[in-house]
Amino acid sequence: MHTIVKHPLIDVKLSIMRDESTKSKEFRENLNEIASFMCFEVFKDLETYDANETYKTPTGVELHRKKLKQKIIIAPILRAGIGLCDGIKNMVPTARIGHIGMYRDETTLKPIEYYFKLPKVENPLVVIVDPMLATGGSAIAAIDACKKRGYNNVRLMCLVGVPEGLKAVEDAHPDVHVYLAALDEKLNDVGYIIPGLGDAGDRIFGTK
Ligand code: PRP
Ligand code: URA
Repeated sequence: MHTIVKHPLIDVKLSIMRDESTKSKEFRENLNEIASFMCFEVFKDLETYDANETYKTPTGVELHRKKLKQKIIIAPILRAGIGLCDGIKNMVPTARIGHIGMYRDETTLKPIEYYFKLPKVENPLVVIVDPMLATGGSAIAAIDACKKRGYNNVRLMCLVGVPEGLKAVEDAHPDVHVYLAALDEKLNDVGYIIPGLGDAGDRIFGTK
């Protein structure tokens, strides 16, 4: 199952990110802002409860604090997934952060896992985040890594994907809902998304 999160403000911000002349700072700001917008869709089915804690409104009414029932872990795929975390944390400050170290071998395009650490939380919803869903290999390996360790309630939030990567993830993990801000046309012969936005990690961290 997947959802393309369509919104004119996302389209405007994404077009800034796609522009090769956009500098790292503006690229990161727009990435985090889109991640914040996407939270409305990714978390829209979560339930809340009235906690014991109460507070008073300026009009003198006593109310119970609303809290999320579901514990949430945000799990960025390193490195580029880090670029969405502040935007999500701004919307869901109670979310805990884990890290999944994964990179694509540049010739085989196969993902290589080098780090995995998620907080120990009872029955969490794990949202794996990464700006790019290209072949889908990294996302599939990240979901495999979570499930292998008992984290079975997983969603995947990416910015830009292509049909073949999306299909690969949906075939491998039909229970994982995938959220994208855009579904682009295709991959080029070196595994980059077309039109895409280039190497997300390099643009976030200024490594090229
Ligand atoms: C990029 C991107 C994804 C992966 C997508 O990471 O951030 O993790 O490629 O490609 P796939 O769908 O074909 O697996 P990269 O391996 O370049 O690592 P980085 O984040 O450290 O730059
Ligand atoms: N990883 C990226 O950073 N960009 C792409 O276009 C594909 C994979």
